[in-house]
Amino acid sequence: MNYKIRWGIVGPGNIARKFTKDLIQIDDAQITAVASRSIGRSKSFADEFHIDRYYDNYDQLFNDPNVDIVYIATPHNHHAELSKAALLAGKAVLSEKPSAMNKAEIEEVIELSKKKRLFYMEGLWSRFNPLIQEVYEKVQSGTFGELKYLKADFGFFALNRPDDSRVLNPSLGGGSLLDIGIYPVFLAYLMLGKPNKIKTIPKFYKTGAEVQISIIFDYDNAQAVLYSGFVSETDCTAQISGTKGRIHIDTRWHEPTTYHQHTSEGSQTIEHDFKGNGFSYEIEEVHRCLKNNLYESNLWSHQNTLDLIGLLDDIRADAAIEF
Ligand SMILES: NC(=O)c1ccc[n+]([C@@H]2O[C@H](COP(=O)([O-])OP(=O)(O)OC[C@H]3O[C@@H](n4cnc5c(N)ncnc54)[C@H](OP(=O)(O)O)[C@@H]3O)[C@@H](O)[C@H]2O)c1
Repeated sequence: MNYKIRWGIVGPGNIARKFTKDLIQIDDAQITAVASRSIGRSKSFADEFHIDRYYDNYDQLFNDPNVDIVYIATPHNHHAELSKAALLAGKAVLSEKPSAMNKAEIEEVIELSKKKRLFYMEGLWSRFNPLIQEVYEKVQSGTFGELKYLKADFGFFALNRPDDSRVLNPSLGGGSLLDIGIYPVFLAYLMLGKPNKIKTIPKFYKTGAEVQISIIFDYDNAQAVLYSGFVSETDCTAQISGTKGRIHIDTRWHEPTTYHQHTSEGSQTIEHDFKGNGFSYEIEEVHRCLKNNLYESNLWSHQNTLDLIGLLDDIRADAAIEF
């Protein structure tokens, strides 16, 4: 099991750079290629990370026999199409979140992953964070009794970005929901599952992008209050409360280091290390899956990805968010 997994990076922008900084720290990872639409961006990324092969188009990377798995880090609206192209060329795929623009798109990707027997995972990195994993296990084991309430927010100021930027341009999937609202939705889904009812109140920017949204998930015996926005910086904290206790995850809760636990046995603050930029946990999970010939992770499965994008579709329908 000592062989290296050979990675190809597609879309060498902001997040690809942070991801790659963590990837080079992983012993059994090797970065063999990078592809951009621009040879200049591709070469400068290759120079920065000492990558031998750099391409000015994505297809050449998908067809490179020296690549085992492709990391897709382009804007949201290209994730599904590029995931399919990579799978069709015989590559395993780790795609940045959101997996796709809607459920119909990702269904095709997952079908292809199963048909080609090739690994596919949405890079919902918070799922693999050890603190989130620990909180999840405590919730599952009943430490806090029956969950009744969950609150999570994620907001920062992004209205100073260009109108045609990825975050404010609806044709690139812009708006807070798919970019950062996905995290509070993920937490509610992870802890409470799929709600019976969803209510939303959105606000829109001059570009037509949604830039502020409040979401309520209603369950048989619980409620979740979720928020995301680009209009101001918010706490970025999470609270999970049950009949026997509660947890507060400190800012920024989706890349957490600290949480506070309160039960009848007392209060405790629990701190975790945070390695690098936080991507090594998901990378290690990808390697575990590839080395065990798994086509999906049991921590963030194909069904989890389908459920999450299904919830985002439902929120969009309620809020009349269009791309
Ligand atoms: N997991 C996380 O914490 C996290 C954080 C931030 C973002 N993300 C996700 O990562 C993805 C990329 O975000 P980012 O901030 O890294 O984006 P970015 O830097 O703006 O763009 C990344 C790459 O996408 C391509 N690209 C940019 N604009 C494009 C356009 N208009 N049309 C087609 N391709 C375009 C470019 O690749 P070329 O060089 O090939 O042109 C660029 O290098 C998003 O889907 C986002 O949700 C995840």
